[in-house]
Amino acid sequence: MNKLLIRQGTVVTTSGATQADVYVEGETIREIGPGLERKHRGDAPRIIDAQGCYVFPGGIDPHTHFDLPLKTTRTADDFATGSLAALHGGTTTVIDFANQAPGGTLATAIEQWHKLAEGRTACDYAFHVSVTDWNEKTRAEIHECIAKHGIPTFKTFMAYKGTYMIDDARMLEILREVKRAGGLALVHAENGDMIEFLVGELRAAGSLAAPKNHALSHPPIAEAEACGRIIDLARVAGCPLYVVHLSSEDALDRVRLAATHAEASDPPLYVETCIQYLTLDQSRYNLKGFEGARFVLSPPLRAKKDLRALWKGLSKNLIQTVATDHCSFRAEQRELGREDFTKIPNGLAGVEHRLELLYSEGVEGRKISLERFVELSSTAAAKLLGLYPRKGAIAVGSDADLVVFDPNQTHVISAKTHHMNVDYSNYEGWKVKGKVKTVVLRGTVAIEDGQARVAPGFGKYLRREALTR
Ligand code: URP
Ligand code: ZN
Ligand code: ZN
Repeated sequence: MNKLLIRQGTVVTTSGATQADVYVEGETIREIGPGLERKHRGDAPRIIDAQGCYVFPGGIDPHTHFDLPLKTTRTADDFATGSLAALHGGTTTVIDFANQAPGGTLATAIEQWHKLAEGRTACDYAFHVSVTDWNEKTRAEIHECIAKHGIPTFKTFMAYKGTYMIDDARMLEILREVKRAGGLALVHAENGDMIEFLVGELRAAGSLAAPKNHALSHPPIAEAEACGRIIDLARVAGCPLYVVHLSSEDALDRVRLAATHAEASDPPLYVETCIQYLTLDQSRYNLKGFEGARFVLSPPLRAKKDLRALWKGLSKNLIQTVATDHCSFRAEQRELGREDFTKIPNGLAGVEHRLELLYSEGVEGRKISLERFVELSSTAAAKLLGLYPRKGAIAVGSDADLVVFDPNQTHVISAKTHHMNVDYSNYEGWKVKGKVKTVVLRGTVAIEDGQARVAPGFGKYLRREALTR
């Protein structure tokens, strides 16, 4: 049986940081404490030296899109390249989205995503399902997703009018059914009608060619309005709600308002932001030529004041998780929108850098505690999304998903050295304090000395249970 001992690191969990050894047998953590090296010498475990380093629970990215087909193209990272990049950056579990095709069933979407991921994914993975079409069959399928497929998290869109957008009447039906099933509703909160209206005006003015128009047509108010509305709809339906990729101060204000006036009978409300909204701002849309297109995503990057508000929201626990919404496109794919910004494929690549950026900008830069870092990068997602305590914990019996992190090593992010299948980096030249040194996934060394030691296919699919009931 596989035996591993991580010696003399500072083990960090949400409840504290202590100097300890971690002993692993097979895929799980067997013992945590001092003096384990001597105690287990006879077992001849493989030793990993973590002196001077932190030992974090493997990162969990609750929001990725690998191998996502769009009408005109497909994301650059598939499950193999995306999951290997995730591991390089200390993320050992991702949760991707199986998207229902218009007119299709949820079961078909899940089957399709299993085909894309199985045998190709190097880290562990689970799925959310995106509900884009609502009918009596979908109603029954919500329950089957949990019982049959182990998926209790359902994403809907208030944006992308004409394709994925769900109107309020259908949204209420979905929310009620998700509540009945014991699931959690994930919502992309942007007002699709408002966005269409603004795009229409830009079109009429002949202003389709510049990437910055993406930001102009997706203003914070479109996000704030939808955010406030979905909180109210979820309240009416009694459905637990998780707002994905929240990006603006205005939207966060709606969350604060709801939290301030919450009654005991209200359903839980959780918020996710993404590392790009904490680190990059809308000035990127003014880059020369067509370079701004590399930063097009929905919601778009915001003003510096929004970044400050999000960091504050993290420290006040108005925001519980930090994801990436990893959805990568190469420079030539962005060219699809050179003449018309609405055709630029939306999304940023970040799965490899979430942990290091959150540590560097959060712990080093803004004095976020180590415990909070662990909560934001791993434990909270595991707890809210049904993976805890198997994932998101350094505890006896949990999966041995561990990151040995050197806080003293600095490095610079570059497309020349990253592992994502993208020919540029949204963080090119960004100096980062702290580096992922070794990554262990279920007791197996997955990354060491910058090299992958596991291959695509090593990752396991993680079934989950109903979350509330
Ligand atoms: O621009 C983004 N975020 N693309 C991915 C799809 C989504 O809305 O999450
Ligand atoms: Zn979204
Ligand atoms: Zn997304």
